[in-house]
This record gives sequence, C-alpha cells and structure tokens, in this order.
Amino acid sequence: MCGIVGYVGPRQAYPVIIKGLQRLEYRGYDSAGIAIINGKINLYKKQGKVADLEEFVIGKNVQGHTAIGHTRWATHGEPSDRNAHPHLSRSGEIAMIHNGIIENYISLKEELTNKGYTFKSDTDTEVLLNFIEDIYINNGGNLEEAVRIALKRVVGAYCILLIEQKNPETIIAARKGSPLVIGIGKNEHFLASDASPIIEYTKEVVYVNDYEIAIVRPDELTLKNLGNEKQTPFITELDLELDAIEKSGYDHFMLKEIFEQPKTIFDCLRGRLNAEKGYINLSGVEKYLDEISNAPRIIIIACGTSWHAGLVAEYIIEETCRIPVEVEYASEFRYRNPIVNKGDMMIAISQSGETADTIVAIEKAKEQGAIIMGIVNVVGSSIARISHTGVYTHAGPEIGVASTKAFTGQLAALMMIAFKIAFYKQTISEERYLHLCNELSLVPEKAEIILQQNDSIRLIAEALKDSSNALFLGRGYNFPIALEGALKLKEISYIHAEGYPAAEMKHGPIALVDENLPVVFIATKDVYHEKIISNIQEIKARKGKVIAVINENDTVTPKLADHVIVIPEADEIIAPILNVIPLQLLSYHIGIARGCNVDMPRNLAKSVTVE
Ligand code: M6R
Repeated sequence: MCGIVGYVGPRQAYPVIIKGLQRLEYRGYDSAGIAIINGKINLYKKQGKVADLEEFVIGKNVQGHTAIGHTRWATHGEPSDRNAHPHLSRSGEIAMIHNGIIENYISLKEELTNKGYTFKSDTDTEVLLNFIEDIYINNGGNLEEAVRIALKRVVGAYCILLIEQKNPETIIAARKGSPLVIGIGKNEHFLASDASPIIEYTKEVVYVNDYEIAIVRPDELTLKNLGNEKQTPFITELDLELDAIEKSGYDHFMLKEIFEQPKTIFDCLRGRLNAEKGYINLSGVEKYLDEISNAPRIIIIACGTSWHAGLVAEYIIEETCRIPVEVEYASEFRYRNPIVNKGDMMIAISQSGETADTIVAIEKAKEQGAIIMGIVNVVGSSIARISHTGVYTHAGPEIGVASTKAFTGQLAALMMIAFKIAFYKQTISEERYLHLCNELSLVPEKAEIILQQNDSIRLIAEALKDSSNALFLGRGYNFPIALEGALKLKEISYIHAEGYPAAEMKHGPIALVDENLPVVFIATKDVYHEKIISNIQEIKARKGKVIAVINENDTVTPKLADHVIVIPEADEIIAPILNVIPLQLLSYHIGIARGCNVDMPRNLAKSVTVE
C-alpha cells in the first residue's frame, strides 16, 4: 500500500529514486512522484505509473543528492496529479511522502483551517504535513522536534519521509504500522518500504520500529523514540539477491513466480524435512512443541490468499493433530470480542508480514494470552518480529500482486507443522507420518510436471476468456483451493468468480448454471471422488462447461468434462499444494488473453498496510 523511497548521499538521487519506485510499484500504482533538493525543492508528480512520471520529468531539473519518491495506492482522494505524493507544505519549504492512514485527519484539518490553512489536495497526508509545519513555525524551525510533537497527536498508521529546503542533506523519517527499511552505504543512506530498492547498493540494513524517528544524513543515522531518547540501530545483513526481484526473462512476475514453485517449495522444505530419516525439524516449532501440542485450540488469522492457506491448514491440523482449529479473517477478528484463553495458539499467516489487520489481530490475541506463531515470507517484517515464534516460508520476494508461490510456501510450512505436531502427539501412526513426509518431499518434482502443462492450459484459457462468470468447486481439502482459484481469476482477469464446496452448489449457485458458465472442478483422487463425479454430472445435465483438474489414472472424468488438466496423484492431504498450480496458470492465461495487467491488477496493491 504505497511505496516510499528516499536517498541522501553523494550520488545523483533521481536515478536511485526512479529505480526504487519501479521496484516498489507493486505496492500501488495510482500515481508516482518525486521531490529533490537542489537549492530549492523541485517536485514532480503524475497520476499513473512510474513510467508516466519519467516521461513527465523529461527536460526538467532533476539534479540533486537528496530526494524522496512515492508510488501511491489511493486511500483519501481519487488518483490524480494533485493527490499524488510528495506534498509540499504551505510555505513550500518542506516536502513529505506518506504510506498509511491518518485516522484523525479531519479534526487536525479543522484545527488548521481555523488558523487559516487551505489545502490543495484531498489527502490526509497534506493535513499531517501542514500540522507538522504549524508546529515547526512555532518552535523556531526544528523539523525533527516538530515531527515528534505532531506524531504524538496522530491516530493511525504512517511511514513518513520529509525533506526541508534549509537542510538539504537530511531526511527525517518516522514509522508506526507501515514498514521502513534503511540501507547503510558508504557515506550514503537509502530508505524504502522494503529492501528491494536497496539491495543493489548495500546489504546492511536497519528495520525501523514503530514509534521511532530516524534522522538520516549521508554519514549519520540517528534513531530516537517519540520521547526523544536515542535508540541503538540494529544492523542486519540482507539475505536477498538482485536476481530474485527481476523478471529473469519471463513476461510477467506472476508467471515467473508460478514457475519458481518447484524451487520455492523445495527451499521451504530444505533442511527441515528429511523424508528418508523421517524427521521434520522446524526451530520455531521445536521451542514451543509442548505448548502447541497441548493448546486447547488453534486460531488461524490471515487475509486473502493467506486465509485460504489457513483453511487448508484447518482441515489438515484437525485431521492429523486432533486439535480444534478456527480460521478467522483478521479484519473481523480484530473488531469482534473474541474468546481467547491463555494457552490458545494463534497462527498468523502473511506473505508480506505487514498486513495491517493481521498485525492488529495478533496484538489483540497476544494481550489475551495467546502464543503467536507467524507463518511469514518476508524476513524481518513486522509480523515476524511481533510473533513469539514462527516459520519463514522462504519463497523469496513475491512481486506479482496475485499471490502464488507464497501460497504454496505457506501450505508446505503448515503441512510440516501439522505432521510434526501430530507425530509428537502420536495422533498419527509412524507409518502414516513417514508416508506424509515422503509425499511432501515429492511435491517439488510433481510441481515441475504440472508446469509442463502450461501450453495446454493456455489453450483452455483461450476457450474461457470471454466468460463473464465462473464457478470453482471442490470438496474437503480442495474446497479452500476452489476459493483460491476463484480469487486468482477475479483479481487477474476481472471475471466474476465464486468458489464453493461442491456439495453446496445445490443450495443456490446451481441456479447460475447454463451453457455460458464455466465450472472448474478440483477432482483429484480422494475420498470424495465419486461424489465430485456426481456433481460434474449435475453441471453437465444443465449444459455448464466443465473444466476438471484430475489425476493421471482417472478414466471417468475425461468423458464428462469439456476440458481436463491432468496432474500427478498425491496423498489427499498433500494434494492441495499441487492442485492450486494449474488454477494459477489458468488465471494467468485468461488475464493475458483479456489484455489485463496481471502483475498490477486494477485497484489492488501487494501489501495492504491500511485497514
Ligand atoms: O501479505 P499477506 O499475505 O498478509 O496478504 C494478504 C492478502 O492481501 C493477499 O493474499 C491478497 O489476497 C492477494 N492479492 C491474493 O492474491
């Protein structure tokens, strides 16, 4: 949700900022802007993509060594040039960018309006900036102090970067609830929402904590809390290669990330699962083995695709560990009055580790005595840091807005956790445990085989591209995969799609079925197989178009379905991790066939850091 980037040092700042904005564009692409100090503040901003900004600045003065840049996902105020960031203060001497939402901006705006302030944009950001400037004017022009005082009055989430004309070699930054990483170079510093704009310059970074203010100069980084006490910056080494954030020959990040899955699943299992010796070693679980095994209840919270991974985990954990599991949308949990008892285990699933609703839900459960385990992809992210323990998914940077490899990484991590606990609790036999470990270890090579179907899936996509609606049906472990297939199609192709448990179809959705409705069945071999075949027959009887994901030795479904996607068989508990892959490819190709921007679908942003 909005990407922010800053640079201070000896280089020309413009190329650093533009490249950084391109890397952060997945976070928001409603507008982009940059403010550079060169005697005065030169500010350029444009509705649209970073490429539109680049075109706009051609021939303009972009010289300077200190700059801030922003790519926006609109919250307050429509996407437009005037609502684009950076914003300039009333005096024109301070520029600011912001990621987050200032919830009490209306009362701050009233206060300022009464003092004669007027506003050029509809944003909460411009209000906060002028609120800061108002304090600045009255405190003799100390920006750092003005920021500190202002933030004590602010309700909401923010990561802000400010530059001022009279201090051309300083960036003031602060965060609460929205991420900020500072890269430490030689006599230079880089600031960004995540490490991707920083990685090619330095691997030494500091993750700024909530309620901290950073005063950043070329040769100096000072961190303070809102009480003006100095904090010691904790320097971490980035474990990230440039290659991981580039398309590497693929047309889109989404396709690259789908194709990376054999490797990313392998990376998630590597060093943790040894099928031959029959062990699963997860340091984050080892420490809490007794607490998890004896937990009276597991609450899983997440949003979107991560929530679907949580639903799969519910089926698997209840089946194998015999612990009751509830799966909640973080956005609902945080505003309910949920019953959480001391000793309850909360599993929070998030690719980004920055989803605002998930963070608040964790804090709420923590206050009530739950143990928090984070299943997170982004190393060092907020959720990783506020959880008691956790398991990283090791899927590498996921840039495509539609989550693909992060989902299969989440499933791999959750399966390992479930099997580990189940074996420890002896709720599954050793034989079953060894079988599941072995089946899980075979997933990367089976995923490779599925990807070989890319061309045939593209042909099916051609046949479906003009549909207005679609249904995705599955049962048991594959019901959440039906939900995920529908979500992927919606966000990538803008085709309205619904996921349903196949048996629920008769309770309503079947009314939608006619010769124009594609119905995608996840019909791989499991205990429900015969029932799913009956469901397929019910759809065919009403002339619906059936697309079925099936296993190699299924001779019945091909006779019923209009299209089949044949994938390798796996134990039904493991199968969801494989079954989702053809659905990801199907969505991708339908999106492409409809001319959609699959990496940056309209209205979406990769990481939802506002509620
Ligand atoms: O970073 P998170 O996993 O917490 O994000 C949760 C959702 O915002 C995310 O999965 C979203 O639904 C994706 N666009 C789905 O592809």
